[in-house]
Amino acid sequence: MNRLNEYMLPPAKSTMAGEVDALYYFVNVTSVIILAGITIAIIYFAWKYRRRTDDDVTPVITHNSKLEITWSVIPLILVLILFGWSFSTYTTLTTAPDDAYEVRVVAKSWLWEFHYDNGSVSVNELHVPVNKPIKLVMSSDDVIHSFYVPDYRVKMDVLPNRYTSVWFEVLETGESIVFCTEYCGTQHSNMDAKVIVHTQEDFEEWLETGDEVDEDMPPAERGEALVSRQGCAACHSADGTRLVGPSFAGLWMSERTMEDGEVITADANYIRESILEPNAKITEGYDPVMPSYQGTISDRQIDDIIEYIKTLE
Ligand code: CUA
Repeated sequence: MNRLNEYMLPPAKSTMAGEVDALYYFVNVTSVIILAGITIAIIYFAWKYRRRTDDDVTPVITHNSKLEITWSVIPLILVLILFGWSFSTYTTLTTAPDDAYEVRVVAKSWLWEFHYDNGSVSVNELHVPVNKPIKLVMSSDDVIHSFYVPDYRVKMDVLPNRYTSVWFEVLETGESIVFCTEYCGTQHSNMDAKVIVHTQEDFEEWLETGDEVDEDMPPAERGEALVSRQGCAACHSADGTRLVGPSFAGLWMSERTMEDGEVITADANYIRESILEPNAKITEGYDPVMPSYQGTISDRQIDDIIEYIKTLE
């Protein structure tokens, strides 16, 4: 069973994964048995009742109560088992234990933001402690997204104007991938994140220091790290390649034409505004699709990103 599991499914890293997998195998094994039975019956009857002489006459059969009850009751029992089992699993999946640690999840096209109880925010990296129920309270700033962690067998739609919730408890420290599983625009396939599972002590330490900047690092290097950590690099290249948004290469102090024809200079104020209010000015030829980073990154972090952009001449 374990070998089969390894071959068919991603590693089962949450307390719930075993139950979900058992249900999955029940559905599949039952289906395969029924399929095999029906296929064998079709072949057997096709052979048994083949036409042998020209005056073969089909007997008139109006009904067979025993047979009809059997083929109605067996599927009914199977469907009822499936319903009861799925319903109980679904209830477990959607009802978080009272002692769960809560994380707010905000989905934006195209990144994931995680807000923790002490005010820390992380982008595209969900940090959680091991062996502790984690409850995610999720909403979207724009379109419908879906939060999916294959390793945990956890998936839930993330909607605008409404909260949805999901919970899990991870059995081992390590990393797992989060996918967006609701088509949400051009960068949908790149809208992934990581769950990083720490020991309780490491997690608390991360909560305390996760946001702190490394004072010894040159600002431009901190900015570069931020650009990758905050998900900017998914849409803005550093080498001039055109992605969803304008490249950072050669951006600093360049003359740029906006959608409304206005020509501006890409100075620090312009970059700051573009991070906090991305739709205030749209570069000609691009779509107004960037989410706001208001409340996500600090002024200090914006400084570092500007320093980094300056180096990309
Ligand atoms: Cu977000 Cu697909």
